[in-house]
Amino acid sequence: MKERLEALRVEALQELQQVDNPQQLNDLRVKYLGKKGALTEILRGMGGLSAEERPVIGQVGNEVRAAIEGVIDEKQNAFLAAETENRLRAETIDVTLPGKALPTGAVHPLNKVAQEIEDVFVGLGYSIAEGPEVETDYFNFEALNLPKNHPARDMQDSFYITEDILMRTHTSPVQVRTMQQMNGKPIKVICPGKVYRRDDDDATHSFMFNQIEGLVVGPNIRMSDLKGTLLQFVQQMFGEQAQIRLRPSFFPFTEPSAEVDVTCVQCGGHGCRMCKQTGWLEILGCGMVHPRVLEMGGYDPKEVSGFAFGMGVERIALLKYGIDDIRHFYTNDQRFLSQFARM
Ligand code: DAH
Repeated sequence: MKERLEALRVEALQELQQVDNPQQLNDLRVKYLGKKGALTEILRGMGGLSAEERPVIGQVGNEVRAAIEGVIDEKQNAFLAAETENRLRAETIDVTLPGKALPTGAVHPLNKVAQEIEDVFVGLGYSIAEGPEVETDYFNFEALNLPKNHPARDMQDSFYITEDILMRTHTSPVQVRTMQQMNGKPIKVICPGKVYRRDDDDATHSFMFNQIEGLVVGPNIRMSDLKGTLLQFVQQMFGEQAQIRLRPSFFPFTEPSAEVDVTCVQCGGHGCRMCKQTGWLEILGCGMVHPRVLEMGGYDPKEVSGFAFGMGVERIALLKYGIDDIRHFYTNDQRFLSQFARM
């Protein structure tokens, strides 16, 4: 029996040396030390031993069990250590690696251009005024010297809500609202906002678009102040080389009125397709505030004078970025919008 125990020890230790995974190790534990294992099997024969032999064999049996257990524990610890090391290696974070860039939103090109325009005028000492998009006929037309049935109302096809309430067709009503609020004091404001017209949408028209209005009122405000202001604006917006020209025009709320062109942003004034070979691009309307409009705003045209201008933000943005269709601004195509995120 002693020989069988010794042989078992040798066999078990040899087999244990070959083990290379925890599953195998466990199988061997069962095979040698389990309830139905080889060691138990041999020791079951102890019943037939003499009283002197029994403790001796018992002793050897314990030694063999201890030896096998010892190797199993050792192996087990080695597997555990290896597994821990692997896990730690897998979990290790290299803090020197560059991070993954997350997709981020960006300012819409129209808001960007509007902000740029506002910045120029704020830099010139203007304040920003706002007014409602749902406006009364009085502020949108009448107080701007466009009486009911005046043919100039045809210049702007309007969305009416009731006979006297409409979606404002321009930001000019904010001129009147500002004059009423300022109560005779000098004014220097710009008024940005959305406006609405009953136009069919196409590459250059939209039922809704953005305007920025300007209004300056005070003693001795002259046409030359208007011209200098607009030149300053255009050069900050389009570059030092940009020039302007004023063409006589008509708006009921200004007298005289003018349309302002800027030197073509594409060809610099030489003539190209964009400017239809004229070298100029139209960018805004302006004029000296009509005495009747001053009066209706509560100002005395004998004491003060003023100039006003109004421009479309979309139009400035189209020119500035060489965009060919106004609808790009409203259709939220990521491929279009993301180009402005980096500018
Ligand atoms: N309100 C005009 C429009 O929407 C633009 C405009 C022209 C505004 C001349 C002005 C101005 O203040 O003086 O077509």
